[in-house]
Amino acid sequence: IKHLLSGADLDADTATEILDTAAEMATVAGREIKKLPALRGRTVVNLFYEDSTRTRISFEAAAKRLSADVINFSAKGSSVTKGESLKDTALTLQAMGADAVVVRHPASGAPHRLANWVDGSVVNAGDGTHEHPTQALLDAYTMRARLGRLAGLSVAVVGDVLHSRVARSNVLLLSTLGAKVTLVGPPTLIPVDIAGALAPATAVSYDLDSVLPNVDVVMMLRVQRERMNDSYFPSAREYARRYGLDGPRMRRLPEHAIVMHPGPMNRGMEITPEVADSPRSTIVEQVTNGVSVRMAVLYLLLGGNNR
Ligand code: CP
Repeated sequence: IKHLLSGADLDADTATEILDTAAEMATVAGREIKKLPALRGRTVVNLFYEDSTRTRISFEAAAKRLSADVINFSAKGSSVTKGESLKDTALTLQAMGADAVVVRHPASGAPHRLANWVDGSVVNAGDGTHEHPTQALLDAYTMRARLGRLAGLSVAVVGDVLHSRVARSNVLLLSTLGAKVTLVGPPTLIPVDIAGALAPATAVSYDLDSVLPNVDVVMMLRVQRERMNDSYFPSAREYARRYGLDGPRMRRLPEHAIVMHPGPMNRGMEITPEVADSPRSTIVEQVTNGVSVRMAVLYLLLGGNNR
């Protein structure tokens, strides 16, 4: 593939190739020599129109570990504040020789537009409420590393599904890889028909307590207050009482089950500190795995099959 814009871009073989390559990259990262020469002479631009900690830093670390040159662009402090368009910004970066553009943008679909304007590969690092495919890949990698497989796993994705690009990409990718996803949350935060529209086998439940005893993975989503008005969201206390994962709820999970969260977390809202910091939590591992997975994505887009 040339671009990674959506979880739907990945068939099972391509997704598995990325996960297997990421596992090889992780063994390199664990050794004393942390750098590979694979992308020497290639330029990766990180084009961020929206705030990020994990995704931006891990793409930078991934590109540097593959010996690529990295240009970090943040809309704040750039000519975007003077009204320069996404297209003109992209063409400017291309003129400086970008082989890949990693883009985060508040508008759903912006990476797809960008892919029409630049010659290099485009990687969607999160677009509005639409998709975040490398997050889904690192989540799948983490599940496979902890539980040994993806096919047949039962995964609950819990909370603010409406605004979650992480949920959309996870439903698409996990379904492709044979896991069964149940979306859980208040009816106001689960869009009508989302489950069937993304992947027909996806289930929906409004009752977290009844779902927990039957899952291998519970993935808590951040409540995105910045994207909502109060009609979606009655009160933080009510939300936490019905859909927050606390200690007693965590103990309803099967013994082997893991707890995930893409970050950043609202501690005390969708997840309590007791759960986030427990041995079942993979939240820190997800961040570590994100570097290897993004190395694999950049390697396969720029240095592997397309060279
Ligand atoms: N999970 C995630 O995308 O985090 P950031 O917004 O910090 O990149």
